[in-house]
Amino acid sequence: MLAAGEVRLLTEPDLAAVFAIEQTVHSTNWNINAYKFELSRPQSVCSGVFVDEELAAFVIAYCLAPELHIQDIVTKGGFQRRGYASKLLNFVISLSRDRGAHSAFLEVREGNQPAINFYTRHKFSKYSRRLDYYGKGQNAWLMKMTFPN
Ligand SMILES: CC(C)(COP(=O)(O)OP(=O)(O)OC[C@H]1O[C@@H](n2cnc3c(N)ncnc32)[C@H](O)[C@@H]1OP(=O)(O)O)[C@@H](O)C(=O)NCCC(=O)NCCS
Repeated sequence: MLAAGEVRLLTEPDLAAVFAIEQTVHSTNWNINAYKFELSRPQSVCSGVFVDEELAAFVIAYCLAPELHIQDIVTKGGFQRRGYASKLLNFVISLSRDRGAHSAFLEVREGNQPAINFYTRHKFSKYSRRLDYYGKGQNAWLMKMTFPN
């Protein structure tokens, strides 16, 4: 994987780029205010990876020790499969470990095989399934991972 780029915590001025990526790559019901709320939480570890100042990928996550909760992770089209989401995941795990976390949790759409592959590659495993979580017939896998030593 290539994945050069600077990883840092997101700030409010980054949210326009976050929102633009969200809209083009995978449309959810997140809006700017929801992102603002996530960034303003003291537990926030929302981060982005920047390539020549362009936002290439972001993660929306918070750490409530001993748990890291990943709510969304998205890599912009054209930057995918180059290691950017992996870089971000490692960054938030490291931050969360410093804050006393030792495991990570998330939900993912049952049909989102690229994301499931991504998380499985990072040692997440499925532990439960929520029926109709995203709407009728759209189930979610719950996945978790204990931080590696
Ligand atoms: C899931 C996602 C964040 C991965 O980002 P990424 O920067 O491409 O990931 P990385 O390059 O760090 O890791 C790539 C690995 O993820 C998995 N993966 C990513 N895209 C994949 C695809 N289209 N098909 C199968 N596996 C895929 C593979 O394991 C891949 O490793 P490989 O390239 O050696 O086969 C990206 O596909 C994305 O933005 N998807 C849309 C948003 C989304 O669904 N997010 C998850 C919300 S829960």
